[in-house]
Amino acid sequence: MSDQLENNVREALAASTNMGEMQDADAVGSAGSPGCGDMMRVWVKYGHDSQGRTTIDRATFQGFGCETAMAVASVATEMLKGKTLDEAQALGGAELSAPLGPLPPMKIHCATLVEEALRQALSPAPAKPTSPQPTSATPGGDLMDSMMQGNNAPRKKIVFLNPDPQP
Ligand code: FES
Repeated sequence: MSDQLENNVREALAASTNMGEMQDADAVGSAGSPGCGDMMRVWVKYGHDSQGRTTIDRATFQGFGCETAMAVASVATEMLKGKTLDEAQALGGAELSAPLGPLPPMKIHCATLVEEALRQALSPAPAKPTSPQPTSATPGGDLMDSMMQGNNAPRKKIVFLNPDPQP
């Protein structure tokens, strides 16, 4: 990974204001596999523009994966604000990660993880639950609970990023 990309990732994480569950979300989408350790969840709150079209008012994320995935989710959730559903659904991993600069091939899947979680959230069909129903009050439930339901849960090591770094 280039120094420039590393800097951009670090800055995106430090500036992130969209990290965390959204209690009043209208939609939620998850992507990844609890078995391999990379997982992303995106919450979306809808609004309307002056023409009455449904738009994304705000979006938040929570993830377990590498810093690049978290940084892509951070810039992507910022980018989504004010977009219509068609505009948001047209965004692929390359567009969602563009503010960070080009990703090397080994990091493309980090952006794909965010894209897939977003697509599931914006999917008109309600997502079929694939795991026991969450007990959290947040739509989609707590991502930590989902992570710990995999067969390999006892072997997982979770390192938390500090969403509010000290100066
Ligand atoms: Fe797997 Fe980034 S999400 S390496």
